[in-house]
Amino acid sequence: MQITYPRPRLKMARTTIYRGRIFNPISYSKFEDIEDGAIEVSESGKILKIGKFSDFKKKSAKTIDYSGKIIMPGLIDCHVHLPQYDIVAMDGYELLDWLNTYTFPAERRVESSKLARDAAKRFFYALKSNGTTSAAVYNTIHKEATDLAFKEAEKSGLRIFMGKVMMDQNSPEFLQEKTEESLSQSEELCKKWHGKDNGRINYVFTPRFAPTCSEKLMQGAADLAKRYGAYIQTHLAENRGELAWVKELFPRCKDYTSVYGKAGMLTSKTIMAHCIYLSDSELKLLSKTSTKVAHCASSNFFLKSGIFDLNRTLDAKLDVGLGSDVGGGPNLSMFREMANACNMSKTRYIQENGGANSIDAVNAFYLATMGGAKVLSLDKIIGNLFPGKEADFIVVDASLVNPQKTINNKTGKEVLSQLIYRADDRVISATYVRGKKIYSKN
Ligand code: GUN
Ligand code: ZN
Repeated sequence: MQITYPRPRLKMARTTIYRGRIFNPISYSKFEDIEDGAIEVSESGKILKIGKFSDFKKKSAKTIDYSGKIIMPGLIDCHVHLPQYDIVAMDGYELLDWLNTYTFPAERRVESSKLARDAAKRFFYALKSNGTTSAAVYNTIHKEATDLAFKEAEKSGLRIFMGKVMMDQNSPEFLQEKTEESLSQSEELCKKWHGKDNGRINYVFTPRFAPTCSEKLMQGAADLAKRYGAYIQTHLAENRGELAWVKELFPRCKDYTSVYGKAGMLTSKTIMAHCIYLSDSELKLLSKTSTKVAHCASSNFFLKSGIFDLNRTLDAKLDVGLGSDVGGGPNLSMFREMANACNMSKTRYIQENGGANSIDAVNAFYLATMGGAKVLSLDKIIGNLFPGKEADFIVVDASLVNPQKTINNKTGKEVLSQLIYRADDRVISATYVRGKKIYSKN
């Protein structure tokens, strides 16, 4: 009798080739444009190869055809507030009045866990549908709401850096914490979440800004961040009223940056948002400590905070990424943010009669991808589509923002320029993190 043995099922590692027009940032002023291009991604979500589609061996791979669309690195939002999403675009105030009128009451509402979960779900979905794959997020002072937000972040598939806001002075009664409680709750959340899913979820100690934080709280946060290898985020030199307040509250400190320096908060894993009003010596101190900067142009226009000097900050050898700063900024789209970063530098150009160089679409594209990756200390892992990196990428239908509805009649730089000045969530066809599709338009 003939025995037939079951054939061993060989588990072949199957790779996936994504075909499309590739936009890959190479340096601050250069990006690669491969018209009929592709990237090949391993089962574990790493980029194996990038190049012309005709150069790929298709036999052992599955091909997903995005011809007619752009494949580019996922966009990185270096500064955004989850609980403020529901009060975006409320015009009419400068920072401190806006905080009291809209922001603090909105953050109070998250005391309810049902509301917190619902807000987090909507927020993370909105990030993905805007093509953002990584974000540094502020929650509220509430431990439970932050824990729920982490659960939603974990489910979302996004790469999230987040923390519970800390504030123990000069805050409305309903948002003011006891110093020790703020520290211990933050530590518990850090222990639970920092490094989850192989580093996709990270904890960020989040003292709100110097006026609402005692020195003890800021020092404690810095110590904990160091102990757990976690991140720190806060606001620095955003608004003139804020500067005057800091001077009054910390009379013994030489300047605003030194307040954070004295607390040990200036580190290579610290993200400072705004940094508009800094002296040369403050920039030097940030550079010496490798502190990172989140430039939030939309918010700086919206809250009438000031005109950030990007070139001066880059010349001081600081790593700069972009942040939507929702709800201070009115939009989650990093395309809007790139456009406003360009517009802000053009404002400077106009103010200085052409004496200041303005940035262009290529520079802005680098800031929203590789710039952001540097700010998160992840430039070896994400930020562009180099082989060996994790496959965080988006598929973009740029024809939607071209009146002639095609991407074939323009140079790469022209397509990029139309995207940056005209695109939003309409153009995002799909969003991938570590090679896994976490959002698709239809
Ligand atoms: N400074 C302190 N808190 C905030 C905030 O929530 N948003 C902005 N833009 N600046 C701040
Ligand atoms: Zn902010």
